[in-house]
Amino acid sequence: MNVHNTHSADASTVEEALAAGNYDPVVDSKTATDVAMQNTLLTPRFYTTDFDEMDAIDVSPVRAEWDQLIGQMKADPNKGHFKKNEDWDNIDWDGMDPQLKAEFIDFLISSCTAEFSGCVLYKEMKRRGSNDDITTLFQLMARDEARHAGFINDALREAGIAVNLGFLTQSKKYTYFRPKFIYYATYLSEKIGYARYITIYRHLEAHPDKRFHPIFKWFKEWCNDEFSHGEAFALLMKTDPKLTESFANKLWIKFFLTAVYSTMWVRDHQRPAFHEALGVDPAWYGQEVFRKTSEISKQVFPMTLDIDHPRWIPALDRMQDANIQIAAGKKQGGVGGWFKRMGGSAKAGFAFLSLMTIPAHSNAVPTNPRLEPAY
Ligand SMILES: [Fe+2]
Ligand SMILES: [Fe+2]
Repeated sequence: MNVHNTHSADASTVEEALAAGNYDPVVDSKTATDVAMQNTLLTPRFYTTDFDEMDAIDVSPVRAEWDQLIGQMKADPNKGHFKKNEDWDNIDWDGMDPQLKAEFIDFLISSCTAEFSGCVLYKEMKRRGSNDDITTLFQLMARDEARHAGFINDALREAGIAVNLGFLTQSKKYTYFRPKFIYYATYLSEKIGYARYITIYRHLEAHPDKRFHPIFKWFKEWCNDEFSHGEAFALLMKTDPKLTESFANKLWIKFFLTAVYSTMWVRDHQRPAFHEALGVDPAWYGQEVFRKTSEISKQVFPMTLDIDHPRWIPALDRMQDANIQIAAGKKQGGVGGWFKRMGGSAKAGFAFLSLMTIPAHSNAVPTNPRLEPAY
């Protein structure tokens, strides 16, 4: 394992994470739902889009690959997978280290919200659409995400907590993204989701003593669902070459890659005890996930980010520091807190600019984008 030491989960990082105030312990379903309701740069959002424009997509240019993928998804290889069985170990929630418990619950709530966010968007597309190809796909993806979110909620229930998904659907704020931004963002989040789940799964396969909760055993089949969803978005993007070839859209793709990667970095570094319990250095994990995601995204994106560039990790670290400062400012309040927050936002902005100006590796996209899970 290539361990990057600056961010190993040492005491001062735990202190910082606590100081950032991200983990007021969630004790019941009400506070869990409150956490899921939050809309910050770092929390999963709900999206809405121009459903008519998406409904008008003609998949004929990718017909053969499309039908094959839909056939695979209809066969539903994971039907029955998202149920607790004899592999589900009992967890002593009360005996769990409080910091680990707080971070792990936050991880579950944020994963559940992210899964459910996909479900809500896909279900709405299915409801509003009349194009058979599109509605069939979105119906299948909504089915998967509903299972994923429900399974995580089942795990939370054992800790006496559940996210009120019905309330979220009604009350969480929806962010509008034009369809092409939905393609970039959702494609990436599906593929990065695959890379995150499989990287943890493979790590725990090698270090079973670090598997402190049974849910990780479910990640392998789970990540194959996310992989298929990503394949679907790759095909959707393939129907219109402009989406990945025009100069402006290339900039947007670089923006989304940078935003998705840096958000993941900052979010993961807020959970030092969680990563320590897994025996995973968050910086190593981040780079590993970025590497896999970049490799996969060559199927459709005309560039990959240079994650080995000397400015890459330092700028991500500055982003992480800025985030701690913003959270501390928010907590402090008043004029002093305001200045702290503004300073933090400026720092984060410059760090993001530094990431965006790292030259990307250009990539010649293959004619047939289809991939199979390989990790
Ligand atoms: Fe999912
Ligand atoms: Fe998914």
